[in-house]
Amino acid sequence: MAKRSPVLPIALAALACLALPLASVKGAAPVRAQATEQIISYVPINSQVFVKPQVVATWAAQHNEAAVRAHAAALWSGLTALTNQSLRGVPLAVFDTWFTPCDIYPVTKGCGQGIISKPTLFEVPEQFFHLPRLDPANVFSSVKYDEGMKHFVEVGYGGAPYTTGAGLVNAINAGQKNLIDTAKPSSMMLKPTYELLSSTKPTAIMYWKGPALTVPPGSTTSPQVPASDSWLQVVLVDPTGKATNAKPITYCANVYDESGTIVRHGMHTAAGGSYKVIPLSEFYAIPLTSAGVQSLQNVRAQFRARQTSLLSGRFGALAQNADPGCPTVNVEKPVAALMGMHVASAELHNVWTWQTFWWQPFVSAVPGAKGPFRHFDFATAYWKTNNGPHDYRYAFNPYLEAVFGTSTFLTTKWTTSGAGSVTNLGRTTNCISCHETATYTIPANPSIAPGYVAHGSQPQIPTQNSILTRNLWSLADRAGHPTPPPAPSASP
Ligand code: HEC
Repeated sequence: MAKRSPVLPIALAALACLALPLASVKGAAPVRAQATEQIISYVPINSQVFVKPQVVATWAAQHNEAAVRAHAAALWSGLTALTNQSLRGVPLAVFDTWFTPCDIYPVTKGCGQGIISKPTLFEVPEQFFHLPRLDPANVFSSVKYDEGMKHFVEVGYGGAPYTTGAGLVNAINAGQKNLIDTAKPSSMMLKPTYELLSSTKPTAIMYWKGPALTVPPGSTTSPQVPASDSWLQVVLVDPTGKATNAKPITYCANVYDESGTIVRHGMHTAAGGSYKVIPLSEFYAIPLTSAGVQSLQNVRAQFRARQTSLLSGRFGALAQNADPGCPTVNVEKPVAALMGMHVASAELHNVWTWQTFWWQPFVSAVPGAKGPFRHFDFATAYWKTNNGPHDYRYAFNPYLEAVFGTSTFLTTKWTTSGAGSVTNLGRTTNCISCHETATYTIPANPSIAPGYVAHGSQPQIPTQNSILTRNLWSLADRAGHPTPPPAPSASP
């Protein structure tokens, strides 16, 4: 969803130096630079962040909130520790050395682009294809695996990897309904999420107010669907060291109805003196080359083309009647700034652990986090219901799931009637509920596409020739679809 506001010409004091975040480079970069790609060596997370699966299982069984929050913070510190490699002057965090789908899957959307280098190989989040409109694509994301997760999908089943689809077909033929959880407990997967900020001019961005995942009145145009382009508080991100908050900032925000359709958009003003100026150095942000910027424009164009072709089939009149919404934002000399990250580990057998982090300039720091990684708030899902069968636990990322309205889900409510009925919205999602229904189907374009589940234990619509992919939506979306051998009994 969109976000950042079309920054109104903000008087820019002299174009100071290319103020890169994290200016000091620690240690030499052991990398071979190529014209467009820099090789980055994998760095594992510090293994001391992990605890024994039995310990996590006990926390989950007891709903031990303090323990899971502390564990989530430890994972975050491990992932964001700086390595001795750097890219364009920015010391890389551990997570930025991990494998992307291009390293793992034979066929991947967007890989042919050779975007620049692994850390900035971005996409429009896959989830946004489930919106009843053309997102302006101002939020980018990528998917990362550690080597344990890579191993899990590469070993596959019956002698064939899951990545090509062949291991998945083997498992389906063996009568399995879900992948056997053979992932090492320390296996991890991530979804880092970015916005573009200017490295030369102050950029106004909207931010999630909170506290935590609450949606206080006045914090968004759309309390039911509080997408990142509906937020009504802004800060000015300053690369020059000279910006002030003297001038008013004008920005665009969308208004959503409960289905997730944009019903209108409009301009808002933050009065001079009412907002904070934040140095760009407070972000983990990697500069894009001009080729990288061009690649992101290509990614946007591809997203628009594919989404346009899907929209009316998936959403019918809902899509046709949508307001076009706020425009796509472009900034001068962009850096890709980390604004959020989904983090999952296989420590809890079958279920896995789920935590998500989002940029929030005014919360107290994630315990143990350093530098730009302090300015994040977070939520966890190690279980699906709190107390009682219908007390659903919600955990979502304001940058990724808040944009979902009812039209994104299999049904508009779960359960559909009676006690415990809750509207299915992005803000009523639980990571486990949606990921445990991730489904691969043998046909590349099944007549019933796997849908999304918000909370609780709503089952996926069963399809023939399909298998649950043990929490991995990336595997469901990105595995190959081998051509089936001709059926022996095919009619002439
Ligand atoms: C409504 C469904 C839904 C919800 C809710 C959801 N996700 Fe996802 N998630 C997805 C989809 C779809 C992808 C995209 C996979 C891809 O890019 O190929 C994804 C991607 C991811 C990935 C990248 C790897 C992978 O295989 O999926 C991680 C990690 C992740 N989500 C964690 C979380 C966490 C943590 C939460 C809760 C805070 C969460 N997700 C909530 C649907 C969901």
